[in-house]
Amino acid sequence: MNHLLGGLKGGRLAGAIPYSSRPFKPARLTITPVSHRLTHMNHINHMNIPFARPFIGEEEEEACLRVLRSGWLTTGGETLAFEHEFASFLMSGTLRNTAEFLHSANMAPLESNSGAGDPALRCLAVNSATSGLHLTLEACGVGKGDVVLTPAYTFASTAEVVRYLGAEPVFVDVAPGTFHMDPNALEAAVQRLATGEQAYPARGGFGPKGAPKAALPVHYGGLPCDMNAIMTVAARYDLKVIEDAAHSFPSKLNPGDFAGPGSTRFAGAIGDAGVFSFYATKPLATGEGGMVATRSQELADRVSIMRSHGIDRTIWNRYTDTRASWYYEVTAPGYKYNMPDILSALGRVQLSRCMELLAMRMHIAARYDAAFSGDDRFIIPATGAGDARHLYPLRLHPSINRDAFIQTMRTLGVGVSVHFIPLHTMPYYRDRYGFEDNDFPESFKMFKQEVSLPLWPGMTEEEISSVISCVRQACS
Ligand SMILES: Cc1ncc(COP(=O)(O)O)c(C=O)c1O
Repeated sequence: MNHLLGGLKGGRLAGAIPYSSRPFKPARLTITPVSHRLTHMNHINHMNIPFARPFIGEEEEEACLRVLRSGWLTTGGETLAFEHEFASFLMSGTLRNTAEFLHSANMAPLESNSGAGDPALRCLAVNSATSGLHLTLEACGVGKGDVVLTPAYTFASTAEVVRYLGAEPVFVDVAPGTFHMDPNALEAAVQRLATGEQAYPARGGFGPKGAPKAALPVHYGGLPCDMNAIMTVAARYDLKVIEDAAHSFPSKLNPGDFAGPGSTRFAGAIGDAGVFSFYATKPLATGEGGMVATRSQELADRVSIMRSHGIDRTIWNRYTDTRASWYYEVTAPGYKYNMPDILSALGRVQLSRCMELLAMRMHIAARYDAAFSGDDRFIIPATGAGDARHLYPLRLHPSINRDAFIQTMRTLGVGVSVHFIPLHTMPYYRDRYGFEDNDFPESFKMFKQEVSLPLWPGMTEEEISSVISCVRQACS
């Protein structure tokens, strides 16, 4: 026990916690994150730096307790407030507390504040980004035989939701040297489909045929895609654009970085709809969860009904409205994708911290940039306006064996990951469509070189330095 206390006092825990040792001292964050109190116990014996760690503090604990004690656990007033606060933030970049609405059945709709012709955003909480993407595609009318264009370089969710609906994903390569869907390759694929050809030109033509209905660009790692170019292609071919914004909260774009009205926009609020993830490792983390954002009343209404069995009233409304609580109508065979209030309460606290958490991620990424730029062994990730810095996807020189590098990092006690293994190499898609690895050469090349480094708010200077020296050691 003495040994343990000695370790806690003089060792990594004592060195890890004080905010005063950090370049950022957010005014609101005066507490020790609960996650640190628990996981720094691991550091007594090992120099473990996990790949990801949520930033959970006492406010998050209190928010969950408030819900546990309230007698209402499922979707209710907390979720309604979270949706309003999230929408308000996406529209104005400022936080709004809607505590006064927590016990009402409905809230006044938000007004647009970004100019004429720019309707207010509606946000709908769901239990994951995957379910949000599914609901949004369904609401866009995507069905059997339709085609949806997604990057090859993405997570399973982006394409599987297309298959849920009996539609076909058509993969698009990333632009050379980037992790983002190439708008030129998007246009080429849509052109082929629109003229009745098969999606892919290689080997005399192969892949799905069908009407291109929607494009699903991914703001990989938190860096927004070239939305101007994607929206231009979409307008030319009458495609819906659903932004996979799972990584990108908050990613703020300036005028000129996006097509459309308004002065500033966040990634996820530019296309017909955007979908955010609150999965445990994401910038705003509730364990599981997601949010659909749209300016289309029609899409919002359909998503709202379909996330809860196709029932025309929310559970919360049934218990708070003056109409009979037992009566409802099923208007479509919907799903069970609602977000419970415990998670929404957690999300509201995380939302209130989002700019401070962003500042911490930016600092870590800046330290990595400074350490790895100018070294031939590495290519640092591109960054730019609105980068939420969710990932730090370092690229290793092709002469370095990436898999051996990862193994060494593991031995050194540093958690790393790979984002992503391109979907066309996955057995399901490879076998269904007959892909070869080099059908999307840019995606395959990026995958072979990529390794994602730890980047989570609360990392100490010592931990960042340790990751940097381990990276150098692992490729020496
Ligand atoms: C690009 C991308 N889209 C969608 C998702 C799905 O998010 P969720 O786990 O909330 O369903 C993920 C998850 O990591 C992702 O990386």
